[in-house]
Amino acid sequence: MSENIDVILKEGRKFNPPDEFVKNANVTRSEYEKLVRLGKDAPEEYWAQAAKELHWFKTWDKTLVWDPPKAQWFVGGKINASYNCLDRHLKTIPQKTALVWEGEPGEVSTWTYRELYEQVTRLTASLRRLGLKPGDCVAIYMPMIPEAVVAMLACARGGFPHTVIFGGFSAESIKDRVQDAEASVIITADFGYRKGSQIKLREQVDKALKDCSTVKYVIQVQRTKSGQITSEGNRSFSKPACFNSNGNALDWHELISSISHEETQTQGYAEELDSEHPLYILYTSGTTGKPKGIIHTTGGYLVEALQTTKQVFDIKPYDLYWCTADIGWVTGHTYIVYGPLAAGASIFMYEGAPTTPTQDRFWAMIERHHISILYTAPTAIRAFMRLGTEPLRGRDLSSLRLLGTVGEPINPEAWMWYRENVGRNHCPIVDTYWQTETGSIVISPIPGAVATKPGSATFALPGYDVDVVDKKGEPVPPGGGGYLVIKKPWPAMARTIHKDPERYKKQYFSEYPGGVYFTGDGARKDEDGYLWCLGRVDDVLNVSGHRIGTMEVESALVSHPKVAEAAVVGRPDSLKGQALAAFVTLKAGVVQKGDTDSLNAMANELKAHVTKEIGALARPDDIRFTDALPKTRSGKIMRRLLRELATSGQVKGDVTTLEDLAVIAALQKDGEE
Ligand code: WTA
Repeated sequence: MSENIDVILKEGRKFNPPDEFVKNANVTRSEYEKLVRLGKDAPEEYWAQAAKELHWFKTWDKTLVWDPPKAQWFVGGKINASYNCLDRHLKTIPQKTALVWEGEPGEVSTWTYRELYEQVTRLTASLRRLGLKPGDCVAIYMPMIPEAVVAMLACARGGFPHTVIFGGFSAESIKDRVQDAEASVIITADFGYRKGSQIKLREQVDKALKDCSTVKYVIQVQRTKSGQITSEGNRSFSKPACFNSNGNALDWHELISSISHEETQTQGYAEELDSEHPLYILYTSGTTGKPKGIIHTTGGYLVEALQTTKQVFDIKPYDLYWCTADIGWVTGHTYIVYGPLAAGASIFMYEGAPTTPTQDRFWAMIERHHISILYTAPTAIRAFMRLGTEPLRGRDLSSLRLLGTVGEPINPEAWMWYRENVGRNHCPIVDTYWQTETGSIVISPIPGAVATKPGSATFALPGYDVDVVDKKGEPVPPGGGGYLVIKKPWPAMARTIHKDPERYKKQYFSEYPGGVYFTGDGARKDEDGYLWCLGRVDDVLNVSGHRIGTMEVESALVSHPKVAEAAVVGRPDSLKGQALAAFVTLKAGVVQKGDTDSLNAMANELKAHVTKEIGALARPDDIRFTDALPKTRSGKIMRRLLRELATSGQVKGDVTTLEDLAVIAALQKDGEE
């Protein structure tokens, strides 16, 4: 019987980890307290201790140089992320499974650490052959196949910063990112599987390439060969022709099998990189029309990726760990690739949709592969809740010992459902709060040491100075709500926005003085000090755990020749967390007033247009046409009113600052129809 969530919340009930879990936990309660104390009293020492877990070609001279907003960690140190994820394990666990992969159609492949190492070194050698030098950027636009992990690690190995572009983005989005990053190579696949269909990635790349003058080569995996371990072939390597827009791409498997064993050994080496060498650029939505390229560097990022993986996921040698995120998001970077592989863990990777071909696909895979840790998004959990418990019936999920969530606030009902039905009441849940910019988890329970409350991410991890403050920067009292800030620098923090350091400063460090980082999120601190992360307070939306800037969608809408003006707001959605509602003013004479058929057709045309401009993830859920948008006297769109309207169909509150009261009246009337 499911317990009543209202009672649990009202009582402020805490869930303690089971004794068995506590007994074997990586971090026990007393160790946790020690770490928290050290993190508070001597954060640099705390992080320096964590850094010693990694391999450094040369130890750092100074742990931190902090000149807000510029942070440098482990200054003077030389390190390589790929070396730490691969070579470091070859002496101890070469035959351990690094990766188990299942394609959507059902093929399975398993790679040991040695096999992963060999593929990675081959690709690094290949990229060097193509003339890449440290600092040259590579774009990766791939399905969830093992080659995506190989590509990231091969780039890291050579010091080629990668920019992974989510496979759901359109050609336009690829173009923006490739141009901004000035990528010289794009690694892609002919297609990937999703919901039984072939998603033609290469086609999108080809469309984008017309406007990507920096790209010299395209390397393409043939999806039908995914997961196959390529060994040395007999082909000689002839330097391929430069890519031209007619589609002169290089075949992945041919390319890496043409590299001889000898060449792999001499040219597949891990570059000794400065700790602050850029590891990757990851584009994420902000409050302007263009996504921003968040830069993460090597040493500090990897220190935290490893530290938090071990602490939060309690990784053990025997675990098979599954993070369901796509490698196109930061979660895929830190908690599929860099953290778990640096920890020598076995990771599981799945290509496709959660309910393809049947509603029990997730549970069948957990049973089949004995997955022990599952890290997924609240949206997925809510989607499973809707399907009921039937797909779970009869499935043996006893291998699971820890559950996690990420990407958006989890509602307590979904938390309880996850605990009862997936975790069978014996798996702790780690609700992990963090961002692309933070690089790694900031707030989360450490599962063997912290009692949880459904819906709360609990406390900041050791080493972090997190607070909830009011507009003036004063900490709110227990029970109060405000803005979530991080008061001291941390190793995995973003270093800047690519080509736009001013925007970085303004966005994150101008709200509060003294180098205090503003997350853009609201939060509440309860009487027990537990943190409840409530979501964005800026014009960034979180749709199904994906970050989308309202301005990006607005820019896409107004790029349509028939649109005069557009405003996009979020409205609550019981499945996706937030849904996108667009208010659109069409150019004069485009559609006759009252012509419902044409307006419906126009709405569909605009939804398709946004899909083309950004990708299906940004497709508006609702489009409402209006004669004009409500604005203040200074011309600012009154988003609060639009949000209320999108949510309830009603508009409340003070409208006297409206330039044109009639606008709101007209909108309200439409909403009532
Ligand atoms: C939200 C994803 C509540 C938050 C790792 C943040 C969360 C944004 C949580 C970052 C959580 C992430 N509880 N909200 N556990 N995790 N968020 O950059 O609004 O894709 O600012 O990074 O997701 O999204 P991003």
